[in-house]
Amino acid sequence: MRTLREIPALRATLDDARRHAQRIALVPTMGNLHDGHLALVAQARRQSDVVVATIFVNPLQFGAGEDLDAYPRTLAEDQAKLEEAGCDLLFAPETTTLYPRGLAAQTRVCVPEVSEGLCGGDRPGHFDGVATVITMLFNLVQPDVACFGEKDYQQLAVIRRLVADLHLPVEIVGVPIVRATDGLALSSRNGYLDADQRAIAPALYHTLCLLRDALEAGADSTDTLADGLTQLEEAGFAPDYLELRDIDLGPATATTRDAVLLAAARLGPTRLIDNLSLTLP
Ligand code: PAJ
Repeated sequence: MRTLREIPALRATLDDARRHAQRIALVPTMGNLHDGHLALVAQARRQSDVVVATIFVNPLQFGAGEDLDAYPRTLAEDQAKLEEAGCDLLFAPETTTLYPRGLAAQTRVCVPEVSEGLCGGDRPGHFDGVATVITMLFNLVQPDVACFGEKDYQQLAVIRRLVADLHLPVEIVGVPIVRATDGLALSSRNGYLDADQRAIAPALYHTLCLLRDALEAGADSTDTLADGLTQLEEAGFAPDYLELRDIDLGPATATTRDAVLLAAARLGPTRLIDNLSLTLP
């Protein structure tokens, strides 16, 4: 696997692949890779000839007071994992390479509606930062297909809308959430949890499972979500949101069948997110 840090080298390498009619897949990440990221690489491998991963801790999507500086940077370990997973090319640019005029001067991409509420409500500007860097990576790599995790359900919805609205010629593939054996969704931020918090953390997923079972059995959604918030608080979380939406993130109504439960909750300073699909009766 080759690691490239500069745009001209990336473009030259991919131009060559395209000249040979090779199908290119992109897996964007912020590094500190775990089996969730590697599931995206495996999916990309199945759907392409050339797998390109990117590692870039994108300052544009971090708010003031968030963990930009503390975000784990583990390039050597990540390179070994990517190589092992069958990645062909890693693009790991410096911040000044992607944003040479600085963040304030940077042209931005804004995806309205689907970016609002849920994580977008708690993290203003976050999804503009994601949409901007993903548009930039799509332009640099020009992939045929790009893989994103369903763990970041709203992010996946934002990217699907971005691609549709801007008529970008890239197929978006969602990959199911990879979990630890106790149910906790794998996340680079799990490393921030101390032993006590790590023991509590799977309760987020287990609460979502209980709520799903109740809702699928016909329980009232307002009461069920209120119970869920109480359960999360009793387990030791400070919940940011717990919501039932339709699968496109519109409001769940009396006629909604395919739905998703989404939650964000803090354990100390660490914010965990999770979601679960369900079928309403
Ligand atoms: P990051 O948090 O590194 O995640 C990179 C990709 O891995 C995302 O598509 C995310 O949904 C997926 N992922 C993370 N944990 C997962 C899990 N347990 N199971 C399945 N997929 C998982 O998401 C970002 O980076 C950034 O916002 C990015 C899209 C790279 C833009 O900067």
